[in-house]
Amino acid sequence: MENGKKIALVSGITGQDGSYLTELLLEKGYDVHGILRRSSSFNTFRIDHIYNNNELLNRRFFLHYGDLTDSSNLNRLVEKIQPTEIYNLGAQSHVQVSFEVPEYTAEVDGVGTLRFLDAIKETGLKTKFYQASTSELFGKVQEVPQTEKTPFYPRSPYAAAKLYAYWIVVNYREAYNVFASNGILFNHESERRGKTFVTRKITVAASKIITGQQDKLYLGNLDSKRDWGYAPEYVEGMWRILQADEPDDFILATNETHSIREFVEETFKILGEEIVWKGSGLNETGSLKSSGREVVAIDPRHFRPTEVELLIGNPAKAAEKLGWKPKTSFRELIRIMVESDFEKAKKRID
Ligand code: NAP
Ligand code: GDD
Repeated sequence: MENGKKIALVSGITGQDGSYLTELLLEKGYDVHGILRRSSSFNTFRIDHIYNNNELLNRRFFLHYGDLTDSSNLNRLVEKIQPTEIYNLGAQSHVQVSFEVPEYTAEVDGVGTLRFLDAIKETGLKTKFYQASTSELFGKVQEVPQTEKTPFYPRSPYAAAKLYAYWIVVNYREAYNVFASNGILFNHESERRGKTFVTRKITVAASKIITGQQDKLYLGNLDSKRDWGYAPEYVEGMWRILQADEPDDFILATNETHSIREFVEETFKILGEEIVWKGSGLNETGSLKSSGREVVAIDPRHFRPTEVELLIGNPAKAAEKLGWKPKTSFRELIRIMVESDFEKAKKRID
C-alpha cells in the first residue's frame, strides 16, 4: 500500500455487481481499476455514468483491457496497479449457458480464479482477495437452510467451476497465507440485472406486455425457489468481507425463499393485474384475470439438464462477524425492478 492509499482492482466491472461495487468504492475514497473485456460493440452501459464523470471523480476510475483467460495480462495488471484489494467478480455467470460452454466456463470461472491468486503469490503483493462464490455450490441441497458448513453438491458446469474456485481460494489462504475470502452470495437482483436472468426477464416482459409491446412471456421451471436479495446491499457485504480482521468465508442471503411462479404473480400485481394459472407441466399457462388474455407459457428450452430446486441461505455468520444484514424485502425488490422497467417500457427504451 502506497501512503495508506486504497486501490481496488475489480474484474467483472461491466456486470451488475461490478457497477454497484465501483460506485461504493469510489464513495469510500478508493482508486478503482476495472478489467474490461474487448467487445465488438459497447459493453460499458452499466458504468458509463461513472466513466463520463471522470473529471468530477478526480480521475480515480481507470479501465484496463483484460481477460480472466489471460495469465500474462492478470500478472501485468497486478504488478502495475499494486492493488490493496482485488474483487474477482468476472465470470461466465449464466448457469444454463454453462451447459453449452462448459470448458470455457471452467477456464474463466475456475482457472481464472487460480490465475489471479497465482499472480498475487508470484508478485508477493500484500493485497486482499475477494472471490465471487455462489449459492449454486449447494445445488442439490444437503441441508435447509444452507450455512457455511453445509456440504456442496454442484449441479452445473458453472457450479463445478465455482467449486474449484472456492477451494483454490481456501488453499492459497492456507498454503501461502494470502488474505483470500469467499463470499457465498445467494441470488441478488436489481434494475441492472442482466435480462436473461429470470427476475429481470420477468419484469421486462411484464412491463412490455402491459404497454402492448410483447405478447407473451415464455419461461421454464416455475417451481424452483430462490433466496433473492437486492444487489447494492450485497456489494456492500463484499466490501465488509475484505475489511474483516481475518480472511474467511461468508454467506450473504435473506433467509427467505420464493418460487419463480410467486415472482411472476407479484410482478403483475404491482402492475395492477392478477395472474390465473391453468393446466400443468408443459401445458401450464398464466392469464390476466381482468381480460383472460394468456401472457405466460412454458418453453421447455428453458429447462436445465440438472436443476437447482431450492436455495435458502442463513446469513447469521455475516450478521454476527460483519454486522451485515439484508434490508430490502422480496416485494420491495420486485417493486424497484418493475418501476424501473415499466418507466423504460413507457418510453420505449430498451
Ligand atoms: P454479470 O452481470 O453476468 O457480470 C459478469 C461480469 O464478468 C461482466 O463484467 C463480464 O464482462 C465479466 N466477464 C465475463 N467473462 C469474462 C472473462 N473471460 N474475463 C473477464 N471478465 C469476464 O454477473 P453479476 O451478477 O454481476 O455477478 C458477479 C459475480 O458474482 C459473478 O462471478 C457471478 O458468477 C457471481 N455471483 C452472482 C450472483 C448473483 O445473483 N448476481 C450470486 C452469486 C455469485 P462482459 O460485460 O464483457 O460480459
Ligand atoms: N434464466 C432463466 N430463464 N431461468 C428460468 C427461466 C427462464 O426463462 N424459467 C425458469 N427459470 C428458473 C431456472 O431454471 C432457475 O431455477 C431459476 O429460474 C433462476 O434462474 P436464473 O435467474 O438464471 O439464476 P440462477 O439461480 O440459475 O443463477 C444466478 O444466481 C446464482 C446464485 O445462486 C446467477 O446469477 C449465477 O451467476 C449465481 O451464481
